Amino acid sequence: MDVDITLPAPEAEPQRQYYFMALLKQQLVPERAKKNGKEFLTACITTFGCQMNARDSEKLEGILETVGYHIVETEDADFVVYNTCTVRENANLRVYGRLGQLGKYKKKNPGMIISLCGCMMQEPLVVEKLKKSYHFVNLIFGTHNIYRFAEYLVRCMTEDRMVIDIWKDTDKIVENLPVDRKYPFKSGVNIMFGCNNFCSYCIVPYVRGRERSRKPEEIVAEIKRLVADGVVEIMLLGQNVNSYGKNLEEPMTFAQLLREVNKIEGLKRIRFMTSHPKDLSEELIDAMRDCEKVCLHLHLPLQSGSSRILKLMNRRYTKEQYLDLVDRIRAKVPDVSLTTDIIVGFPGETEEDFLETMDVVRKVRYDSAFTFQYSRRTGTPAAAMEDQIPVDVVKDRFDRLLAEVQEISREVTARHTHTVQEVLVESINEQDPSLVTGRMSNNTLVHFKGDASLIGTLQNVYLDECRGFYYMGTPVENS
Ligand code: 5AD
Ligand code: SF4
Repeated sequence: MDVDITLPAPEAEPQRQYYFMALLKQQLVPERAKKNGKEFLTACITTFGCQMNARDSEKLEGILETVGYHIVETEDADFVVYNTCTVRENANLRVYGRLGQLGKYKKKNPGMIISLCGCMMQEPLVVEKLKKSYHFVNLIFGTHNIYRFAEYLVRCMTEDRMVIDIWKDTDKIVENLPVDRKYPFKSGVNIMFGCNNFCSYCIVPYVRGRERSRKPEEIVAEIKRLVADGVVEIMLLGQNVNSYGKNLEEPMTFAQLLREVNKIEGLKRIRFMTSHPKDLSEELIDAMRDCEKVCLHLHLPLQSGSSRILKLMNRRYTKEQYLDLVDRIRAKVPDVSLTTDIIVGFPGETEEDFLETMDVVRKVRYDSAFTFQYSRRTGTPAAAMEDQIPVDVVKDRFDRLLAEVQEISREVTARHTHTVQEVLVESINEQDPSLVTGRMSNNTLVHFKGDASLIGTLQNVYLDECRGFYYMGTPVENS
C-alpha cells in the first residue's frame, strides 16, 4: 500500500493502520534502533492459551515484521509482548510470574518496550494491578482492538507514558492486515469472534465480547490467498463455530460455509474448532459426511456428564442428548475421532455427578480429552455459587478421570495399527532427526523416516506400531 507519511493519518481502516506501519518502518523504528546503538530491533511474542490467541499473535507478528522488527524466540528482545489468557486462574498467575523476569531484562536494556494484550487485559482488576505494581509495562491493549497495534506502537515510541486502551466490546471486524504465519503449510482462519453462550463457569464471553461472524466472501478469499501461498490445511476458528453466520446480513449456517470452503481448489484439509453440542445440527453432520476435505475429527466439549450439573453450567443439553448426538455423528461419519473438554469440581458436583461424567467417558470412548479442575473466575455466575468443592476432592476426581481418559485413549488411538493413512508432514522429529512427524486426518501424530523436503506434503504411511498416543510408521508409494 502506497502511503505518504507527511500527510495526517487517515480515519478509515485498515488504511489508518498502514499509515502508522509506514511511519514506523520509514522513521520511528530505524531512529529507535540508532538511538539504542543497534543495527536493527528485535521482537518476541509469547502466546498463552488457545488457537484464537495463537492466530492473534500471528497478526501481531505480521505487523512487527512489516515495520522492520526481527522476530526472535528469546525475551531479551527490544520489544516483548505477552498475549495472555484468563480462562483459568493459573494462566493469570503464570503471566505475573514471568513479568517479574521481564522487568529484570528491562533494567539491562532500558530501551525495551513491554506490552501486554489478550483476554486477561479485559479484566479491570488486572489492569489496575498492572498500573499500580508493574510500572515498567509500556503498552496494554485488549482483545477487541488488536488491529490498532501499529497505532499503539507509534504512541509508545512518541509518548513518554504507559499506553492503555481497552474496549468493552466491538461490532467491528477489520480485514486485510498483515499476518505472519507460524507454519507455511497450515493456518488458522477466524470465522467468528466472541461468544454468546455464557456457560456459568466461563469468563470468555466477558473478555471476548458478543458473537460476530466474518462474511463468507472474506473467509473464502482469505483461504484462497493462503492456498496460493502454499497452505494445504486450514483450521476454521471460533468460540462456537456451530452458531456461525446467525448475525450476518444474509444469514448462513456453518454447514453451508463448510461446503463453500470444501470447493476451494488446492486446499487439502479442513479442520474446525470449537463446536458446542447444543448447536450441532444434522445439517452439519451431513456436511462433514459429504465434504471430503473435512478431517475425521470432531472436538465436542462435554464439560460434565451429569444433566444436573450441565443445567447449572448453563450448557443447554442433557447427558442423554449428548450421547444421542454422538451416536448420530458416528452413524453418518464412521470412524470420526472424538475429543472433548471436561471440567471436574464444578460447584455442587457430588460423587454421583462425577460418576455420570465417568460413565459418558466410558460410553463415548474419546480419542483424547482435555481435563480441567474447575477454576473460580470472578464475575461469572458459578463463582458466586454455594458449595464450592474442596481442592482435595477436586484433585482426587481429576486423577481418577485422567487415568480413565488415558487408558481409553491408548486403546482407541491404536485402532488404526497396520493400516495405511494419509499424513501431513509437519516437522523434523525433535528427538531423532532421521524421522519426520506429521498428523493423520484424525489428528493423531505419526513419526516415520524422511527428511525436510517432505514438510508440508501429504504422504501415505503404513502404521507399524502404536505407542500410546502416537504411531511409528513406514512410508509407502504415494498413489
Ligand atoms: N475452570 C476450568 N475450566 C474451564 N474452562 C473454561 N472455563 C473454565 C473454568 N472456569 C475449560 C472448558 C473449556 C476449555 C477451553 O476450558 O472445558 O471448554
Ligand atoms: Fe466459554 Fe461456553 Fe462460550 Fe465455550 S461456549 S467460550 S465454554 S461460554
